[in-house]
Amino acid sequence: MSGSWTCTWRTLALRVEPGALGSDARPSLRVGRSVEGLEEGPLAREWIRFDGFERTPQWHLDPDGCRESGPLDERGDAIAEAFARLEAELPDLLARAGAELDALHDARAAADSEDWRSLCREAERRLRHRPVALDALDVRQLEQRRSEKWHTYPRDVLPVWVAEMDFPIAAPIQAELRRFVESSDVGYPLSPRETGLPEVFAERMRERFDWRPDPARVEILSEVVQGLYLAVDRLTRPGEGVVVQTPIYPPFLGAVRDTGRRLVENRFVAAADGRGLEPDLDRLARDVDADTRLLLLCHPHNPTGRVWRRTELVRLAELALAHDLVVVSDEIHADLVFDGRGHVPFASLSPEIAERTITLTSATKAFNIPGLRCAIAHFGSAALQKRFDAGIPRHVRGGLGLHGMHATIAAWRFGQPWLDEVLAYLEGNRAFVADFLAREIPEIRFRPPEATYLAWLDCTALDVPGSPAAHWLREGRVALSDGRVFGPGWERHARLNFATSRPILREALERMARALGRAPDRRREPLGPEPEARSA
Ligand SMILES: Cc1ncc(COP(=O)(O)O)c(C=O)c1O
Repeated sequence: MSGSWTCTWRTLALRVEPGALGSDARPSLRVGRSVEGLEEGPLAREWIRFDGFERTPQWHLDPDGCRESGPLDERGDAIAEAFARLEAELPDLLARAGAELDALHDARAAADSEDWRSLCREAERRLRHRPVALDALDVRQLEQRRSEKWHTYPRDVLPVWVAEMDFPIAAPIQAELRRFVESSDVGYPLSPRETGLPEVFAERMRERFDWRPDPARVEILSEVVQGLYLAVDRLTRPGEGVVVQTPIYPPFLGAVRDTGRRLVENRFVAAADGRGLEPDLDRLARDVDADTRLLLLCHPHNPTGRVWRRTELVRLAELALAHDLVVVSDEIHADLVFDGRGHVPFASLSPEIAERTITLTSATKAFNIPGLRCAIAHFGSAALQKRFDAGIPRHVRGGLGLHGMHATIAAWRFGQPWLDEVLAYLEGNRAFVADFLAREIPEIRFRPPEATYLAWLDCTALDVPGSPAAHWLREGRVALSDGRVFGPGWERHARLNFATSRPILREALERMARALGRAPDRRREPLGPEPEARSA
């Protein structure tokens, strides 16, 4: 992803030469004609170039012949301006650059071409991307962060608990936040709907999951958890049943308990193939009664990292229809799916299901911006949206900062190249965890997650008294999430967050092993050379 990129539509070629990590190479966007028969590689002829984005953004027509050039607006978003000019003026710019008739003809046709537009979107993503050195995290710098993860425990404790990543955020998000700071753009925020976020959400869902939600049915919230609580509060009455499948991300349980609803617990059971856990849908069909109103679905599932099979989703959908349940589908981990597995939004199953589904999601998990507080609630029907909104004045819900919404827009529109790199790295970490545990602590039963960067560790066979997480904290100075908060009966489990550099992950695992009296073998390297970066 870090190299140059060329793509051709008819006679027109777009080429992006990105800036390289730690070098002075300056990104540029070029339009021209590709070498005949060679759709990739440098252009045979260049008509338009945009460059200097970071310091003095400029446009050039026929750059080799130096016909014309001028500045782009350096105070705003110069990359956006470059693409806006291509969209509005391509035929004129090519004519002034001396392009041939066939290219001018194609430039006029490009205005109506979805293929050309999607090529421009991809070029823009690549232009905004900067590779990230995921291995080069410095614990001393991480300790300077003021977030919960790095501040809950004393300094000598290595935190691998709460679900956030240690990696630097994507360049387009950084640029967006920098813009706010550099222009002191912290006045009263525009209303959420007017930021364009509902439309960007709809476009992202269509591109990624082939799901077409209606932007008019979107509400912007500050958190997914806020959406869970509001849904339970608005759509059920005290004492009514709410289905939660355990083990579960703790606020699901909190949303039922804190509002005085009745928990209809549906425990995961040992998987038929003997590895990890799977849902027990037969049991659920027996347990849903006439007073059950809501199903809270965690999709993909935290903490097991399991991806719901389509057949399972269909069974849940049938159950929802049969018992007139509303489904609140928390899909915050949908972008963190491994091995090329797809994600099927629950609301996309059928129009009848969409009508009874509230989808909650955000960019905060996959793009690592949970501190910016921004989430989406999508309602499959106007009636559902009305019930959700009824009786809570807008100001009781609180306002939203523009930075969270614009960071979300930047993530969804331009962050995918960063996410692709992060996902590949996480897959490596997942294999590292599996290999390390199999070698050093084989009593822990662990099924590598299909999604999420969370490893759900079954420590039943470990010879430690009480909670394994408490033992590791006390004896190993490493903080995992304690299984007990994921529901009753999961006390002998712990959740490990592996979204960090491999050296830090290794340190965490070694602390766990040493706290159990093992001496991890440093000489055996399961996954290639040791990265150079300084670790914990
Ligand atoms: C399933 C799930 N939902 C929601 C959240 C939190 O989302 P938010 O911070 O938007 O409330 C998390 C965080 O880990 C999560 O795993």
